[in-house]
Amino acid sequence: MMQTLDDPAALREALGDRGSAGSVAFVPTMGNLHEGHLALVREARRRAETVVVSIFVNPLQFGPNEDLESYPRTLEADRQALDRVGADFLFAPSAEVIYPTPLEQQTRVVVPGISDVHCGASRPGHFTGVATVVCKLFNMVQPDIAVFGKKDYQQLLVIRRMVRDLAMPVEIIGVDTVREPDGLAMSSRNQYLNEDQRRIAPRLYATLQEGRNRILRGAADWESLAREMAAGLDGAGLRTDYVAVVDADTLLAPTPESDRLVILAAAWLGRARLIDNIEVDLTERESTGAS
Ligand code: PAJ
Repeated sequence: MMQTLDDPAALREALGDRGSAGSVAFVPTMGNLHEGHLALVREARRRAETVVVSIFVNPLQFGPNEDLESYPRTLEADRQALDRVGADFLFAPSAEVIYPTPLEQQTRVVVPGISDVHCGASRPGHFTGVATVVCKLFNMVQPDIAVFGKKDYQQLLVIRRMVRDLAMPVEIIGVDTVREPDGLAMSSRNQYLNEDQRRIAPRLYATLQEGRNRILRGAADWESLAREMAAGLDGAGLRTDYVAVVDADTLLAPTPESDRLVILAAAWLGRARLIDNIEVDLTERESTGAS
């Protein structure tokens, strides 16, 4: 039976009761769990003795005009799903526990550079909010391993950078994006889509796949490729926020040394802001004859 706790001291005591032998894997979430989240929990289950999942809708990572109030909250269903996939502990703290200090005065973890581009440029302060809450949750849970989805590719890199820069003793694991049968990346925000929008939404991933194929066939003008992909999305009825073809490690423009790229994209569809990405391994590129 999974145990639900809202108090970090009680959580650490319960973890201590299980002995110091096995490792602890941690999966932070904002709840409203779907198969994407559950894939992370299963990965955690495979890798550690004890699995802790947190559910906390983090106000610090939402902008003033974003969907903090309407973000779907489904704690009872989430609890049942987590129990089924074999999580040991659900940590579901209140905002008062996570932020005893008024938010404006809260100590923050800033990961400069990589937080400021792409999604970070569109959502100022977002990744500082993410890094701060994840740091804080790591301190409360004290995991050996933490599991994140590649769906939020930039977030995964921000967390990896934070852990490295601050020497946090946590191993970060990235898990592939779980998709609907038509390719749409699973997301809690997909429920904001009406029927017509839901029919259009798979164009986002289809466009990323087309971009990847063009690169593998030799396309190398990254900026015009990104521009054409954005135009394609706009033509399909989405409203492109950005498309970027970048180095998979730095998220900056590819250099001649880049051997792995990622295409990142964000687009609005009604009130949903959809994000997705695809990795491109340039060593799989068809030979173009150029050297
Ligand atoms: P949330 O959006 O709930 O996502 C929690 C974790 O699930 C993240 O690591 C995310 O990348 C992963 N995830 C979401 N959809 C996925 C999918 N379709 N396939 C695979 N993994 C998926 O991301 C957050 O919450 C927050 O920013 C958080 C890290 C919890 C900090 O507040």
